[in-house]
Amino acid sequence: MPVASKHDEVKKELEQVAQTASSAKELMENIVHLLHDRMLKYNWVGFYMLEKSQPPVLALGPFQGAMTPHTRIPLNEGICGAAASTGKTIVVDDVRSDPRYLACSLETKSEIVVPVFARNEVAGELDIDSHFPAAFGQEDRDLVEYCASLVGKRLEQSSK
Ligand code: SME
Repeated sequence: MPVASKHDEVKKELEQVAQTASSAKELMENIVHLLHDRMLKYNWVGFYMLEKSQPPVLALGPFQGAMTPHTRIPLNEGICGAAASTGKTIVVDDVRSDPRYLACSLETKSEIVVPVFARNEVAGELDIDSHFPAAFGQEDRDLVEYCASLVGKRLEQSSK
C-alpha cells in the first residue's frame, strides 16, 4: 500500500482544523501553528492581511517564527507586495538573487507567498520562509494554496 506523503497527511489535518475553527482568525492561527510544527523546512509562517487604506498596506497577522521587522508592507514593496498586487503565487528559490526581497532573517534562503482571495479579491496572503534554498516545490505550492483557499472561504462566510 502506498504510504501517504507528509503533504497529504498535513492536508487532512488542515481539513479538520478548518472544520473546528470558530473564526477566520482562529483558522489562520491554527494553520500557522500546524505548518510551522509539521513542515520542517517552513521556518517562518505568517499571514499578512490587506488593509484597504490609502495607500493600501499589508498588515502582519497570525504568524509563527521569529518577530519580523516587516509588520506593514506597502503593495509596491517586497515579494509580499508583488504577490498581493498581481494576485499570483510567487516562489523564490534564492531570495538573495531577487531584488524585491525584504529581509526578515539572515537565515532565510527561499520563500513562497500565496494570495488569499475572498469574493474574487485579494484579502491577504500566506507567506512562508525557509532556511533551505529552493525549499518550495509543486507539492508545497499546492499545500500552501490549499491553506490560502481555506482562509478565503472562511472570510467569505464571516462577511456574509
Ligand atoms: N520577505 C518578505 C517580507 C516579509 S518577511 O519575510 C516575514 C518580502 O520580501 O516581502
